[in-house]
Amino acid sequence: MEFVIYEQKERVGIITINREKALNALNSAVLNELEQILDSIDTNEVRCLIITGAGEKSFVAGADIKEMLDLDKSGGEFFGKKGNDVFAKIENYVLPVVCAVNGYALGGGCELALSCDFRICSEKAIFGQPEVSLGIVPGFGGTQRLARAVGMGMAKQMIYTGRNIDAPEALRIGLVNAVYAQDELMPAAEKLAGIISKNAPIAVQKSKIAINSGSQLPINKGTEIETRLFGECFETNDRRAAMGAFVERRKDIEFFNS
Ligand code: CAA
Repeated sequence: MEFVIYEQKERVGIITINREKALNALNSAVLNELEQILDSIDTNEVRCLIITGAGEKSFVAGADIKEMLDLDKSGGEFFGKKGNDVFAKIENYVLPVVCAVNGYALGGGCELALSCDFRICSEKAIFGQPEVSLGIVPGFGGTQRLARAVGMGMAKQMIYTGRNIDAPEALRIGLVNAVYAQDELMPAAEKLAGIISKNAPIAVQKSKIAINSGSQLPINKGTEIETRLFGECFETNDRRAAMGAFVERRKDIEFFNS
């Protein structure tokens, strides 16, 4: 892989967008590599992913403007679909995905962060959807996911103005869950992912499915899905072991993803 690094620490997989010279901008090659890595992870072994960017300046400074320069209508649509397909894969990925935003998260970078389950960031992070200043609409899901994350009014304001926001403002509007000093960001992300990875994996995965699918549905349909998934958990060995350990006052529980 030229532009994306994958490493595993215990049961946490860390994906780093590594195209620092271009502030980790997303060209087709980066998107392809990201997709290949997602397809190659052993999701029985790994229990939580972190996505971050290489270096101290940028998470991802957007889709690659140089690659987009000469695209025509069908080329633009093709590139948009490519990004949207990869980001949908992240959103629907079987494992939870924590985004550690270590700097600029602009355009496609903000959209990549939005496709993750939740975001934490460094105090140097800058978020924005500057696409209209380039004569395009956000094309990797920003018109859809930003409003779902921060509300229609704030999303429209960010997209129509193209104005960047800093980490404290991102925290205030709920775009990120927490802000850390730069050198504390990855330790915090790994700690969070470590906590998640110690919980019953099937229960975490089914929680993700319930939350994601329910967010598109009327609440009674969402709770129907929840009820089905809740029931399915009772068939798992991990559920039996965990409830048994509680009743017997044992704390030595380990989950086996079964
Ligand atoms: N695409 C391609 N190259 C990019 C890039 C991008 N999105 N962002 C930065 N780079 C490149 C620059 O061209 C530069 O490369 P060269 O040295 O070869 O010229 C290198 O990264 C460093 O960038 P700067 O010199 O511009 O760094 P800076 O510190 O002066 O500015 C910045 C940093 C404010 C992030 C600025 O780089 C910037 O504004 N980048 C573009 C941000 C943007 O508009 N993103 C949205 C893209 S459109 C999109 O994402 C569409 C979509 O929804 C899918």
